[in-house]
Amino acid sequence: MSNVYDKVMGCLESVREKTDFVPKVAIVLGSGLGDYAEKIRVEAEIDYSDIKDFPVSTVPGHAGKFIFGYVDDVPVVCMKGRVHYYEGYDISDVVLPTRLMKLMGAEILFLTNASGGINTSFGAGDFMLITDHISTFAPNPLIGPNIDAFGTRFPDMSEVYDKDLQDIIRQTAKDHNIPLKEGVYIQFTGPSFESPAEIRMAKTLGADAVGMSTVVEAIAANHMGMKICGISCVCNLAAGLSTNPLTHDEVQAAANKAAPLFKQLLTESVKRFV
Ligand code: HPA
Repeated sequence: MSNVYDKVMGCLESVREKTDFVPKVAIVLGSGLGDYAEKIRVEAEIDYSDIKDFPVSTVPGHAGKFIFGYVDDVPVVCMKGRVHYYEGYDISDVVLPTRLMKLMGAEILFLTNASGGINTSFGAGDFMLITDHISTFAPNPLIGPNIDAFGTRFPDMSEVYDKDLQDIIRQTAKDHNIPLKEGVYIQFTGPSFESPAEIRMAKTLGADAVGMSTVVEAIAANHMGMKICGISCVCNLAAGLSTNPLTHDEVQAAANKAAPLFKQLLTESVKRFV
């Protein structure tokens, strides 16, 4: 069919040589959530490097593998580490893992990430339920010949983040006294952090939080008909909103600090998905 299609199908074959586990929920772990496996009754693990042609991340803190198992009774596949466009991969490789998890059987995609807060009511350590996104500044992962087996040429994006899943996450946060903001996430390519002028632009465009992932994965998943939800951990104020220079270490430290509560919100929400 196409190189992109053949590559994903080759990865699926490679995975199926190692496990026949069928997940219901696919979870992408952002910065700081790497040890989420402790919440999973693990059935199988596959290092990305053991999957033929699979893109392997180069970012410190993003070393990668798929973890298959159960959160409560919900079968999940968890991505410990994702690849980012700024690492130099083709955009179709950035979304390959998302497509692969759908082909493994996952119907729901739960995206998590670390972000910079643009909305001035947000502070470091806040969680933001993603209600919509702005993809304009990242390459669209569906550019190229359409893969009809995956979805339609011009997919509707008017409700990428599933309303029912959003309600479940809101209610879960409330029941566990976990403060939860909501808003629009904008993806820039990175790897440089944004300039203050870019953040002012993003704010004008309606963005509440900024990061370097997630949106392209959501687009590819929506193309394939997955139900999608996402939570962003706001790790810093975006450029120009504080006097501190931004560093990856600061982002990682804030993500690590917020991780226990983030993991609780993730686990308790996933339990309610079925
Ligand atoms: N900008 C982009 N990506 C990020 C940020 C930010 O401020 N914080 C965490 N990831």
